[in-house]
Amino acid sequence: MPTTLTLPKWVDLHTHFRQGENVRHYIADHLAMGCSGALAMPNTKPPVSRVKGPKTETAWSIEAYRDDLLSAGADAFEQLITPLYLTRETTPTMIVEGATSGLLQAAKYYPPHGTTNSEHGVPMEEWIGSDVLRAMEDNNVTLCIHGEQHALTGPDYFDLSQTAESYFYFNRMPKVLAAHPNLRIVCEHITTEAAARFVSESPPHVGATITPQHLLYTVGHLVQGLRYHLYCLPLVKFQRDRAALRAAVTEPGQEKFFAGTDSAPHTDKMTECGCAAGCYTGGCAPQLYAMAFEEAGANLESDGGSAAFTRFLSTNGPTFYGFDPSEETFTLVKEPSQTEIRETAEGPVTPLPSGLGIDLTWSLQS
Ligand code: DOR
Ligand code: ZN
Repeated sequence: MPTTLTLPKWVDLHTHFRQGENVRHYIADHLAMGCSGALAMPNTKPPVSRVKGPKTETAWSIEAYRDDLLSAGADAFEQLITPLYLTRETTPTMIVEGATSGLLQAAKYYPPHGTTNSEHGVPMEEWIGSDVLRAMEDNNVTLCIHGEQHALTGPDYFDLSQTAESYFYFNRMPKVLAAHPNLRIVCEHITTEAAARFVSESPPHVGATITPQHLLYTVGHLVQGLRYHLYCLPLVKFQRDRAALRAAVTEPGQEKFFAGTDSAPHTDKMTECGCAAGCYTGGCAPQLYAMAFEEAGANLESDGGSAAFTRFLSTNGPTFYGFDPSEETFTLVKEPSQTEIRETAEGPVTPLPSGLGIDLTWSLQS
């Protein structure tokens, strides 16, 4: 009999469901991989940059976007968090009213032009000490941060001694914490030793999500053969960074690090002069996370190993966001499985393992 691992259903605390016809496919893939909830990122077209009101040509509201997600299958989730995209339109009043109405639980910082659909972002330098972040701090609204310094180029952007992420965690985040000591913060999809250390050394209300690809791979995997399905932002990094992430997630009893896949479907991955950033892990993230834990040395058949995995995947995230973990379960089986390219009316969506030509060593029990 193969090993099985039965876990509480989990909440993907960082994912992209996008907009339009394909949303229902992406939500279905999340439900199929044991998700009891999701935090659906607001870098849609148009962005989710208002709290209430109908969708317009330039903005979605949390209220309207939630309705669309719920009618595309998200009503099957126990939890659905839909953060506000912080833009030049965001006001402190919006934050207070949003929090009071219950619609606003989190808001997302995007570095301007730093990643997919991030052109509405406002530099972190301008948010530090602002009334918007103060209102978030006072109303218990979580700040989700894409932690990369915008506008860096060449070796300042990515080199052995510095990346846009390490720069941001060394130079910007200490100032955010100093100006907003009570602000709840999730450092999203962290990839570096610098970010892992920052989160570990920060107070308990600062946590982090980590993706499967950043636990599994390094930049060598990306550049050997230019495996563009592994191209996401922040980029996969170096061995010492991956080792720091692996140590953070497997540390017994840790409460700060939790699952957030950054699953980011692209139907046009190759563009005319480059590549869209994002790895699609809908349908296969728990299997990839299990593989990553094993590569990190965790024995998922032992009590200690499975406890660490359960914390990271199923319980830390809900606890951080202030709700109970799911009482329902799903089961992983230590048996090889494969992913398939999903054909959609908008084009094919290639899950990361198919893009890399690898099989999973775990499967979902059907
Ligand atoms: O790789 C990424 N893809 N990183 C992001 O920050 C955004 C995401 C997307 O929306 O495609
Ligand atoms: Zn993302």
